[in-house]
Amino acid sequence: MADLRPTDVLISRDKIQTRVRELAAEIQRDFPDGIHVVCVLKGAFIFLSDLVRQMKGPVSLDFMAVSSYAKGTTSSGEVRLMKDLDSSLDGRDVVIVEDIVDTGLTLTYLQEILRARNPKTLRTACLLSKPSRRQVDVKVEYIGFTIEDRFVVGYGLDYAEQYRNLPDIAVMGS
Ligand code: IMP
Ligand code: MG
Repeated sequence: MADLRPTDVLISRDKIQTRVRELAAEIQRDFPDGIHVVCVLKGAFIFLSDLVRQMKGPVSLDFMAVSSYAKGTTSSGEVRLMKDLDSSLDGRDVVIVEDIVDTGLTLTYLQEILRARNPKTLRTACLLSKPSRRQVDVKVEYIGFTIEDRFVVGYGLDYAEQYRNLPDIAVMGS
């Protein structure tokens, strides 16, 4: 993956905005009394900021960071907790906000440790899903787009910490 760079736009900023609005509406219909959002850093930070700005009910936020890919585009299968939450999840309606579900290992790990903290409900929203790469069967209630097995960057997603700032989602090529 030496000379890779973002080439074709896979999902445009307009399509992303439309879908994010729909997801926000869906989540609000399910939780009209409000939610506590757990954002998974760093990849979900832009998705999070667009998603929560489409919500009118009570929304509280917390952040956690995990590391699943050392550097590059293949999963190590190992998930490490780099930053934990600041507040308790006890009795709350919690929605995990993540950028992408690929093998499913990261989300499986996150759901397990967060469920152990006794939330009233625990659901997951992912902007992207690559079902063909799944290694574990993980439940994701809100999915923005289902994509093929391509490595994508932009709108928060990175390749070796680059390209998170691109406004569209693009595929890496040469
Ligand atoms: P999983 O544990 O294999 O499901 O991997 C999830 C994590 O891998 C995501 O949170 C991303 O950080 C990263 N990831 C997986 N696929 C991509 C991609 O196409 N572009 C950028 N990051 C990705
Ligand atoms: Mg991530």
